[in-house]
Amino acid sequence: MEIDLKRCFSEPLLEVMNFLNEVVLRYPRAVSFAPGRPAEVHFEVAASLDKVARFVEYRAAATGASPAAVYSDLGQYNRTNGIINDLIARQVAADEGIRADAAAIVVTSGCQEGMAILLAGLFDPARDVLLVSDPTYIGITGLARILGIRTVAVPSGPRGLDAAAVEAAIEEVDAAGRRARALYDIPDFNNPMGTRMPLAARRALLDMARRRGVLIFEDNPYGMFFYEGEPLPTLKALDEQGVVVYLGSFSKTLFPGLRLGYLIADQEVAATPVTAATAATVATADVRRTSLASELSKVKSLTTVNTSPLLQAVAGAILLENDGSLRPLMRRKLPFYRANRDRMLACLAAQLAGVASWNRPDGGFFLTVDLPFEFDADCLETCARDFGVICCPMSFFALAPGRERQIRLSFSYVTEEQIEEGIARLAGFVRGRAGIRRRPFSPTARTGS
Ligand SMILES: Cc1ncc(COP(=O)(O)O)c(C=O)c1O
Repeated sequence: MEIDLKRCFSEPLLEVMNFLNEVVLRYPRAVSFAPGRPAEVHFEVAASLDKVARFVEYRAAATGASPAAVYSDLGQYNRTNGIINDLIARQVAADEGIRADAAAIVVTSGCQEGMAILLAGLFDPARDVLLVSDPTYIGITGLARILGIRTVAVPSGPRGLDAAAVEAAIEEVDAAGRRARALYDIPDFNNPMGTRMPLAARRALLDMARRRGVLIFEDNPYGMFFYEGEPLPTLKALDEQGVVVYLGSFSKTLFPGLRLGYLIADQEVAATPVTAATAATVATADVRRTSLASELSKVKSLTTVNTSPLLQAVAGAILLENDGSLRPLMRRKLPFYRANRDRMLACLAAQLAGVASWNRPDGGFFLTVDLPFEFDADCLETCARDFGVICCPMSFFALAPGRERQIRLSFSYVTEEQIEEGIARLAGFVRGRAGIRRRPFSPTARTGS
């Protein structure tokens, strides 16, 4: 039988992740600056699994059930919106200054599921449009494409999104007879750019979104990876009007194999009547109010049913062990990531000063390099095959043209030695392409000091 697939299956957007994985597998000896993975040296997987008893003890005390009953419960289907919501509420309050009720949290199978719940639950594809900062994470644009939801790109600059540009995009969507339902952005240590939105711009964006009645989906997997000073308040922490739905993830702070994330959706909405009979008896005046999270549980119940209780128990135990905060854990991890960022910056300065330029991210996993020529999929292949280094064309993450001369470099999943070697190899390719003679060897250039 011939199966005809949706048109989007043949579009490059859906191919990017597979393509990158495949290049990495084909050139195993190449240094890869492609993956946005956290470094495994910090995972402590076995020790984390051993901590489940800690969570069981906590839950037994909280519910009055025996430890054996709690263990059984972890093996059973469980509450749709999660079982560690109280611990997540405590953690975001301690670490991010976000005040959210446990009932306003949906624990998801990775923050990727949170995006799927929001798009599937809140968008009418015939009318609603998702605005996205451009370039952006393919997880959202690819998903929107599969679900048939239109995306409109809003250009993101070195300081992230600008409220006026977002408002202009909303006006265009309105003029086309559609509705801008939400804006997706990663204000902190953006993937792919490594940029961060300043505080004043955050406030301006919130004001504008409230005025325009547009939700903001704030995706924040990298916010706790800050290498200079203190973090800025998230949009959600600043949000007093219920504009922001927050997407959190434990993939980078703990480890991605947990597949654990969460939504904070504390907006008040009218509870939808469950049956025609209840609908008929509910007078308009006493329509029950509930949280958006509670309504979204209907979508979650039809995607993953519930997030693995066992894996929630692992994260719950880690949170309990750290008094409800991830900061103690992060303090141990940050020096590694900061050193990698600094090493990459130093190597770029030593190898490519005057030839290319790059930003200096205050945190996160990525930085952007501007090259003197276009870097496309062929360049990626040549670089991997002939120079032994893999980097991502920024155009892979972009909806609009204009990013052809940029690449994204990830410094999270490499050692300092690999960074040194990889940047030297990249410089070989860039200098060759740009027609610049190789620099004579200098020990300072190699160490970048
Ligand atoms: C911006 C962004 N959002 C979401 C995710 C996925 O998060 P999770 O592993 O929690 O699904 C990633 C992963 O790289 C990411 O970079």
